[in-house]
Amino acid sequence: MTTPNRAVARACSNIALSKYWGKSDIEHNLPAVPSISMTLSGLVTTTSVRFDGSLKEDQVRLDDRVASAREAVRVCELLDRVRALAQIDARAEVDTRNDFPTAAGLASSASGFAALAGAACAAAGVDYDSALLSRLARRSSASAARSVYEGFVELPAGAPGDDTLAAKPLHSRTHWDVALVVAVTAQGPKAVGSTEGMERSRQTSPLYAQWVEQAPELNRQVRAGLAERDLDKLGAAMEQSTYCFHACAMSSLPSILYWQPPTLAALRVIQRLRSEGISVWATMDAGPHVKALCVRDQAPLVEQALKEAPGVLHTMVATPGPGIEIERA
Ligand code: DP6
Repeated sequence: MTTPNRAVARACSNIALSKYWGKSDIEHNLPAVPSISMTLSGLVTTTSVRFDGSLKEDQVRLDDRVASAREAVRVCELLDRVRALAQIDARAEVDTRNDFPTAAGLASSASGFAALAGAACAAAGVDYDSALLSRLARRSSASAARSVYEGFVELPAGAPGDDTLAAKPLHSRTHWDVALVVAVTAQGPKAVGSTEGMERSRQTSPLYAQWVEQAPELNRQVRAGLAERDLDKLGAAMEQSTYCFHACAMSSLPSILYWQPPTLAALRVIQRLRSEGISVWATMDAGPHVKALCVRDQAPLVEQALKEAPGVLHTMVATPGPGIEIERA
């Protein structure tokens, strides 16, 4: 390639309403269970990619610092797949920034790999569509497959070897006026990353096989609650999905206990609000933070209650967000 080609992509993070935990195929990064997510407004990663034939190697910057070797490996692997599709061998300069505070404790890998797939394909001149971007993002981090689409999104379970697996859009962002209130309960990176945590669960948790068997039914209930805009139905299945996967993590050997004391305090607040007649439901990722789903009108009340939970550091509110946006620069 003689002319340097640059593109910029923006993608939002997402929260799983029914959870992915466990792989059916490690090499192709295929989930053992289906998951459904909500794309989150305001939690945006912006990534620019420039292919340049004069570069000797890929250069990766994350939030204005040079990426560590470990971080850069996953980025370069995605770039290699895009280079293979475009039949080019130019190295790339990658610059990626998260608009959301790093102290928010929210995973940036979902928005990050979706934005990287979009910017890299556009910069390399690949003839892409959303399914291809979702598939490329999934290969790097399965939750990232969902961040390609707006609103509400499903990633089916993958059959071993099926590298075509991509997420599918379920409903647009205007489908339902819900909000996700995030209660940040600790600072610093989580003790065990999701990839390692789910593999340890698969190998050692006596609950794992049952989780894989039950997860499709919970996913079905979440999908139905979402379609019917029935928050009680969706919420009950969403909470159970969270508690089931955390039970797998906790019952692994050695145990993976993501919870901190403020985690329990925040979960109790959500239970109390519900006993007072408010439909608000908890979900969590592989970390100590608690996220509460409610209708948008009730988000201020839920946020205030979570702020007052002992140990909660800060809170933020997100609503259903847009899908990936890509510009050739
Ligand atoms: C608990 O997508 O981070 O957040 O595919 O190994 O990169 P890899 O895992 P990742 O796992 C996310 C797990 C989760 C649930 C979810 O987002 O569905």
